[in-house]
Amino acid sequence: MDVLLILSFFSHRHEKRVMAAPKVVDRDRLNTDLLYRVAYDRDFIEFTKDDEDVLHAAAPLILPVTMDIVDGVYEHLFLFSNTKSVFLAREEGFEGDLASRMEDLTLEHPQMKLRKKFLTMWLAKIMTADFSSPAFWEYLDAVGLMHTGRPAFKHRLNKDPLVVDLQQLTLTLAWINDTVTSIVMQMPREDLSSKRKMRILRAFGKIVWFQQDLFQRHFVRSDEEARANLEKWRAREEGGRAEQEKEKEKV
Ligand code: HEM
Repeated sequence: MDVLLILSFFSHRHEKRVMAAPKVVDRDRLNTDLLYRVAYDRDFIEFTKDDEDVLHAAAPLILPVTMDIVDGVYEHLFLFSNTKSVFLAREEGFEGDLASRMEDLTLEHPQMKLRKKFLTMWLAKIMTADFSSPAFWEYLDAVGLMHTGRPAFKHRLNKDPLVVDLQQLTLTLAWINDTVTSIVMQMPREDLSSKRKMRILRAFGKIVWFQQDLFQRHFVRSDEEARANLEKWRAREEGGRAEQEKEKEKV
């Protein structure tokens, strides 16, 4: 029965798709116009009004465990030297004593409390946002940009640049997604049917991928990078060939 359902789901989508002419996408504009990119992402991932409503309806279930999720993220980031060391830098708005050595920085340190607040706010926003408002997508985009060293937010203009590797951002999103999956799946069936669990996780997963795209947009400009890499590779190849020719002439 389940397999039949799955097959009919795919064949229905397939029929609809083969009939339609491809939508025209402006590749350059994807890189220069945030809201055009977001509209494309939403269309591609199929983030619907239903996903928005599902997230809003799930907020009262997820928000009470937000602090636990955030505590888990930080415990996790403190397990590795490359992610823990990022938190030795000065925090926005934090004026107290700062830990400057890895061994002095604990999860209970006051500078970590402020940091946890930032991530708690991010989680609350993605569960309760007005997804039709450009401000929400601009916020996700600024969160991406600020981890590349650029200020991105007005309140960060005079702060030291914060640089976090894309790999760590991606893995942290993966960790959060996995944790939320596990929390939602463990909720009692009487409170949340399997169908609702699936809808929440699908909608939440889509938001995670939006944030991922708005992280990587500031690190990777695929077409520009590909072109530059190709040029470098060609130059290396040509250099190598010229060297070989010279060697041959010597012989
Ligand atoms: C799921 C991935 C992540 C999300 C969604 C996220 C989100 C945020 C947000 C919303 C802020 C506050 C922005 C503001 O100033 O209003 C922030 C700040 C910060 N993030 Fe991330 N972050 C992520 C991953 C990471 C990772 C992996 C690290 C380090 C290994 C990190 C290090 C920091 C630090 C140190 C700050 C505070 C910077 C300061 O105020 O000086 N973040 N992050």
